[in-house]
Amino acid sequence: MDRNDFFNALWARYCTVAAQPKAINAQFKAHGESVINDHVALRSLAGTTFDLNGIGTLLEKIGYRQLDSYVFPDKYLDARSYYCVDNPNAPKIFVSTLRRGVLSDLAETILNELANALNNAPYQLSTLTQGVCWTPLSYSVFQELAAESEYAAWLSAWGLQANHFTVSVNHLKHFNSLTEVNEWIKSVGFQLNQSGGEIKGSKEVLLAQSATLADRVDYLFGCGQTRVIPSCFYEFAERFSNADGQLFQGFVTANADHIFSSTHLKKTT
Ligand code: NI
Repeated sequence: MDRNDFFNALWARYCTVAAQPKAINAQFKAHGESVINDHVALRSLAGTTFDLNGIGTLLEKIGYRQLDSYVFPDKYLDARSYYCVDNPNAPKIFVSTLRRGVLSDLAETILNELANALNNAPYQLSTLTQGVCWTPLSYSVFQELAAESEYAAWLSAWGLQANHFTVSVNHLKHFNSLTEVNEWIKSVGFQLNQSGGEIKGSKEVLLAQSATLADRVDYLFGCGQTRVIPSCFYEFAERFSNADGQLFQGFVTANADHIFSSTHLKKTT
């Protein structure tokens, strides 16, 4: 699997669980735009084959290098960002993982099962595009997880796949700012995540971001019940240059903290 195959597989799976990305891209196309992705985000579990080191090694095989690392203590998450060495227009990759041993014994028992499945999955790039590699949890177990960690619940339902792709506002021809994009996105019928304000970040921190609320989709749980849960969302990012004229390539922890809530079961305002 080369770099193009990887992104094509990520995009294909992402579009099977969320309708928004294709619908929004169609709106952009009708508006005379062709979308370039700023970054994609993956979620996983620490202490497994697919932890930050494990995923990082796979990404290095397709020409990516780590740029920076981030911590989200309140959410028990650690993350790293990666950039493509030979193509500045290739999407950056933001990988986060949930720490182990921090939730209740019950939740950790469930996470142990997911960890075992991850450790038994083929250690290759394609596994990062294939969703869950375990039997879906029952709805009651999913709810137990969600009560402690929305991130854990999302991961249990969707597994290894793109959590979101991100439109690069800098590459759009007919929009001058993220604010303009947001107004237009709402005018064509999509809801934005309001956690921490519609725009997370600013020119001052060199990165401004917004995100749709994740699509709500029917999900068949292992117990046979179908329930509506959040799947994936679409993000919009505008990058700014520093005093030396260099376009910022990293991420801002405070922004990402609010972006995570786009997949929460309880809508935040
Ligand atoms: Ni993002």
